[in-house]
Amino acid sequence: MGRFYITTPIYYVNDAPHVGHAYTTINADALARWHRLRGDETLFLTGTDEHGQKVAEAAAAHGVTSQAWTDQTSQRFRDAWDALDVGYDDFIRTTEARHYESVQRFLGAIYDRGFIYKDVYQGLYCVSCEDYYTIEASVDGNCPVHGRPLTEMEEENWFFRLSAFEDRLIEYYDRHPGFVTPETKRNEAYSFIKGGLRDISITRTSITWGVPVPWDERHVFYVWYDALINYLTALGYGRASDQVAHWWPSSHHLIGKEIIRFHCVWWPAMCMAAGLEPPQHVQVHGWLLVGGQKLSKTMAAEGAVRLTDIAPVVLTEEFGVDALRYYLLRETALGNDGEFSYEGITQRYNTDLANNLGNLVARVATVVASKCDGVGPAPTPDSPLRGDAELAIEQASAAWERFAPHAALEATWSLIGATNAFLERTAPWKLDPGAEVERVLGDALEAIRVVAILVTPAMPGVARELWRRLGLTGAPTDALASESLRWGLYPGGVRVDRATPLFPRIVGDR
Ligand code: ME8
Ligand code: MG
Repeated sequence: MGRFYITTPIYYVNDAPHVGHAYTTINADALARWHRLRGDETLFLTGTDEHGQKVAEAAAAHGVTSQAWTDQTSQRFRDAWDALDVGYDDFIRTTEARHYESVQRFLGAIYDRGFIYKDVYQGLYCVSCEDYYTIEASVDGNCPVHGRPLTEMEEENWFFRLSAFEDRLIEYYDRHPGFVTPETKRNEAYSFIKGGLRDISITRTSITWGVPVPWDERHVFYVWYDALINYLTALGYGRASDQVAHWWPSSHHLIGKEIIRFHCVWWPAMCMAAGLEPPQHVQVHGWLLVGGQKLSKTMAAEGAVRLTDIAPVVLTEEFGVDALRYYLLRETALGNDGEFSYEGITQRYNTDLANNLGNLVARVATVVASKCDGVGPAPTPDSPLRGDAELAIEQASAAWERFAPHAALEATWSLIGATNAFLERTAPWKLDPGAEVERVLGDALEAIRVVAILVTPAMPGVARELWRRLGLTGAPTDALASESLRWGLYPGGVRVDRATPLFPRIVGDR
């Protein structure tokens, strides 16, 4: 068994969580659930990024203190993750004492090693990005991302000697081809490094909402500079509970593509400067976009046309938690941009969930009731479905391993499709009760058992419900994948539940 440490970015608490944040967090949760199922020792970290000018300004705009604002907004992220069945192991807030302690230790180590010096910073800053820009990178003095005017800044700051790590980073990338995936994003980071690195200003005196610089108390650290360290804070870096050696070699950061430079350039250099190996892997994903699509009437009535206006919980009320999770995981390959639309989720729901999975379960349960008195028969060892199941297990497992949830689900659905086709072919509803019907139904029930385990990372609630309907005891995650993902374990002789449709079809325009 291996070890798997996965993190999401820690989200700014300037505003409420939206579907974009849910996208990352659900992907991380599904990957963590897969690794737990596989028997890996797993640690899944998420949390909130609570310092910086953007958050301080949001608090001021709401007339509350930064601390009060971050307390309440951070809680909204936790509530959203609870509502989405996200099972993180640790939730970090950068205003926690443990974080201050680790940040000061980590940056103290960089300082002691001579990579931090004082100079005057003069340049442009975008508060929305919490990032510095050169005049060349600006668009007529405006932020290239937000289009808003950049603020001119001149301050005496502490600087990190990022330029000293150019060669070491290039060498690291050359030696670790899988450090950043997908390849296109790796190349983006690599070219950025090759283009030459400038030192970065890492402290501020103009704001007080931040982690104090231990060697110069007039300064607080620049928000990105404390935020990245959260991944080590959670491992107890520099504290009595230090577990860095245990987890760091198995670390995976899942991030959106707009923060590549911080995670794939600054962060590995900061680790090197502190005398630590860079994280093992950064998996970059693309953006979810909302085209000019009309959303639901409810959402439209609320004026929600931008992704950032869609509260994930609104979607769970309409589609259910697991259907939303499924859609986000299935629709777009990690790394590509994806389109989020009401039509898209409705279509996935009706096709993949209601028609394919839902119908399979309903029709098997119905025939078990009518031909076998509701008692599920055992599968046959040499079933025609066995090959399909083994292929789905192999392909889905490999896809989860390579951070490809969409491909894992595609493989899983190919088993659902094969099972539906098998039922069409054998038409057990036309047969008289007896050995042949039992063979067919036992095989179909076994295929559903395999599906229940394979969908666990994506749809934990549906997986448990399938298990229950199959008459199985415990939960699909009770046994490790290596023991449970084998053909032929459905015991037979148990009651199959003929309950209401698993995914009632969504009809009409909402
Ligand atoms: O950048 N599509 O926080 P943030 C997909 N605090 N993912 C999206 C998305 C979209 N439309 N919108 C947001 C920060 N995300 C820093 C991170 S880490 C040390 C500090 C997701 O609140 C995606 O993961 O702006 C993106 O990277 C993250 O939210 C940015 O969240
Ligand atoms: Mg952002």
